[in-house]
Amino acid sequence: MINKIIILNIIIIGLLIKKTFQERIEINYNYNNITSFQYYKDFVYLYNNDSIVSKEEILKYTDIYHTGYYCKNNICVHTDDNEYFRHFIEFPDNNEHIKLYIATTFPYEHVKEGNYFNKYCSTRYKDIRCCVSVQCEYDSQCLSNKCMNNHCIFNDNNPIEHCDSIYSYNQFLDRRTSYIHCGKPYLDSCENNDECSSKKCAENKVCLMQLDGPSDSEGLIMKVYVGSAMFVIIIITIICLVVKCRYEEFKKKQVRY
Ligand SMILES: *[C@@H]1O[C@H](CO)[C@@H](O)[C@H](O)[C@H]1NC(C)=O
Ligand SMILES: *[C@@H]1O[C@H](CO)[C@@H](O)[C@H](O)[C@H]1NC(C)=O
Repeated sequence: MINKIIILNIIIIGLLIKKTFQERIEINYNYNNITSFQYYKDFVYLYNNDSIVSKEEILKYTDIYHTGYYCKNNICVHTDDNEYFRHFIEFPDNNEHIKLYIATTFPYEHVKEGNYFNKYCSTRYKDIRCCVSVQCEYDSQCLSNKCMNNHCIFNDNNPIEHCDSIYSYNQFLDRRTSYIHCGKPYLDSCENNDECSSKKCAENKVCLMQLDGPSDSEGLIMKVYVGSAMFVIIIITIICLVVKCRYEEFKKKQVRY
């Protein structure tokens, strides 16, 4: 019996080791061939009727959270995430043809100092490790229209515009609101908060990401406050009733004597 258990354990451990060390096939894509990937939509913000909206329209949005937009010539592409995960985006070029651009952009100083990524890898697909290169060859491949040392860099002559939902939560009213603010993207340089889509310019003069949004614990603190207040009121009411009863009994007794 014990032997069988030991053998079973060895088999299970063997399987676990095999699973852990199983080689994933690595596939690499770059600007030229990303659209041939079966799941290229996971890497590209597509420009289509479902994803585009005018900037004028999005500036009217309130109460939307955890979302972002890339805008060009007052047309914005919805990103369904607020971290701008995907590395490529489509926009019409000057001839109104939809063109692929590298969206992942680095500050000039980072590229000069070698502080950048050449590729981003994902293991979300079964048995495949998929890596996408964000390297550029020509300025025109970059959304910023500037390629330096094979990396897209921010370009003041052609700034990339992001729009983020700026979130605020009033704890006492337990009410949340948001509005859209457009400006420079994460890592671009800034002088003040308003310049950044996130409305957050860090001390080192770089725009931060806007990750604020409703969380699961939202409203909890207020509910605890309200709950506690109700509890106190009930206790006080009970005490008052008891005191009142006692007092009336006492008065009755006094009348009798
Ligand atoms: C895409 O192009 C790169 C560079 O030419 C190449 O290394 C890579 O293997 C290509 N990917 C696929 C899946 O063909
Ligand atoms: C997108 O919208 C335009 C005009 O509103 C329309 O002409 C076009 O056919 C639509 N495209 C798709 C793919 O639905």
